[in-house]
Amino acid sequence: MKQRRCINIGLMGLGVVGGGVARILPQKASSMASQIGFPLVIKRVLVRDLKKPRAVSVPSDLLTTDAKDILDDPDIDVVIEVIGGESPAHDYILAALNKGKHVVTANKEVMAKHGPELLAVAKEKGVDVLYEASVGGGIPIIAPFKHDLTANKITAIHAIINGTTNYILTKMAKENLDFGAALEEAKALGYAEADPTNDIEGYDAAYKLAILATLAFGQTVRPADIHCEGITRLAARDFRYARELGYTIKLVAIAKEVEGTIEARVHPAFLPEGLLLAKVDGVFNAIYVEGDLVGKVLFYGQGAGALPTSSAIVADVIEVASDITAGVGNRWRSKQSAGMPIRPMSSVETRYYLRMIVDDRAGVLAQIASSLGRNSISIASCIQKEANASAKTAEIVIMTHLAREAGMQKALGELRELSTVKEIGNFVRVEGMG
Ligand code: NAP
Ligand code: HSE
Repeated sequence: MKQRRCINIGLMGLGVVGGGVARILPQKASSMASQIGFPLVIKRVLVRDLKKPRAVSVPSDLLTTDAKDILDDPDIDVVIEVIGGESPAHDYILAALNKGKHVVTANKEVMAKHGPELLAVAKEKGVDVLYEASVGGGIPIIAPFKHDLTANKITAIHAIINGTTNYILTKMAKENLDFGAALEEAKALGYAEADPTNDIEGYDAAYKLAILATLAFGQTVRPADIHCEGITRLAARDFRYARELGYTIKLVAIAKEVEGTIEARVHPAFLPEGLLLAKVDGVFNAIYVEGDLVGKVLFYGQGAGALPTSSAIVADVIEVASDITAGVGNRWRSKQSAGMPIRPMSSVETRYYLRMIVDDRAGVLAQIASSLGRNSISIASCIQKEANASAKTAEIVIMTHLAREAGMQKALGELRELSTVKEIGNFVRVEGMG
C-alpha cells in the first residue's frame, strides 16, 4: 500500500470563494498540517477561462478547464466545489463521490435540490459531503444543527439569510432609497450579482431554508415546498409607513412546526423594531433557532464574502482531512422524523399590512371593512395617509389582527373588484415571531 505523504485537494472554481480558499490554504498550511497530521496540497484547480486575470496567484500548471483532471485523478482525496449553480456542479459532486472522494461545497442550490440523494451516495461510498458554507457564509449553522443542537426537537427557525437583499432593504429603510437605486448600489459594491434574480426573488434564501429545515426537522424539505416571494414590490413609502408604525421590513425565511405540519416560507415581512432580527442590517445574516431544550439561540455574522465563506470551507476540509488521517469516514447520521406534511400557504396565519389608494368619500371604508370581515379578517388599525384633493382619492394603511392567508387572498381579490379601490399598493405579512 502506498505511504500517504499529504492530502490532495481538487479545487473546482477560483472565483470569489475559490480564490479565498486558494489564498487561505497556503497561509495556514503549517498549523493545519499539525492539526491534521499531513499537509494539504491543492493539486488541480478547475476554471472556465485559463486566461482570466486572477486576484490570487496559482501556478498556471495547476489550472485546468477539464473536470476529469480532478475527477479521474486517483490521488485527489477531497474535491472542493465552488463553481456554483446546479449544473454541471451537481454532476461533478456526484461523480467525485462515486469515485470515493470527499466533497466540500458552498453550493446551496445543489444541496437544497439534491442534498438527500448526494448524502445517501456519500454514505454508500463511505465518504462525506460537507456544506457548512452553503448557508450563512462564515456563520456556523450546519455543524450546530448536525451536532450541538441534535438533542433538541427544533420547533422554529426565523432567519435573515440573504445578504444582498438585507443590504438593499437596509438602504431603503435608512436612506429612503427606492428599490432600483438600492439595487444599483448593491451591484456597484459587488454584493449583488449582474443578474440578481436569485437574491431579489427570494430563491437563494429558499434554497438555504430548505437546507436548514431538512436538518432541523429530520425530513426532506425541498425548495418547491417553500412559499417564496421576493422584495421587488416594496416601495419607499412602505418603509416610511413601517417606521411610523414601529416596524422595519426584512426578507424573512421561516420554517416552523405548526399543528403537526411544517410551515416553510420566504417573503418580506414587517418585524417589530425591538426584535433582534429587526436589528440585523446590511449584508449581515442571522438565524434564530428554537429548540425544546436549548430555548432560543441566535447565530449572527457575515453571510458572504471570500474570507468568511472560506472560513467555513476550510473548516470542513480540516474535518474530512482529519477523518482521512484517522481512517474513518461518514460517521454522521441524520435525524429521521416520521414525516410531517408541508402546510399549504393558504393555511398560514399572520397579521397583514395593507396599503391602498381609495376614493376619498363616505362609505368607502365601510365597504373595505365589510369585505375583510366577510373573510374573517379583523382590522387592528386603519390610518388615512396622503389625500389627493384633485383626484378625490386617499391612501389608507390597514393593519390586521391574525388572519388566514386564504381569507386574505380572497379579500384582496374582492377589494380589487371594488370601483372605489383604485389601487392595492402593497400587502406585507407582519411577523411577531411568536
Ligand atoms: P464566482 O465568483 O462566480 O466563481 C465561480 C468560479 O467557478 C469561477 O472561477 C469560474 O471560472 C468557475 N466556473 C464556473 N462555472 C464553471 C464551469 N462550468 N466549469 C469550470 N469552472 C467553472 O462564484 P462565487 O461567488 O465564488 O460562488 C461560488 C459558490 O459559493 C456558489 O455556489 C455560491 O452560491 C457559493 N457562495 C458564495 C458566497 C460569496 O460570498 N460569493 C458565499 C457563500 C456561498 P472562471 O473564473 O474561469 O470564470
Ligand atoms: N448571494 C448570497 C447573499 C451570497 O447575498 O447572501 C451568499 O450565499
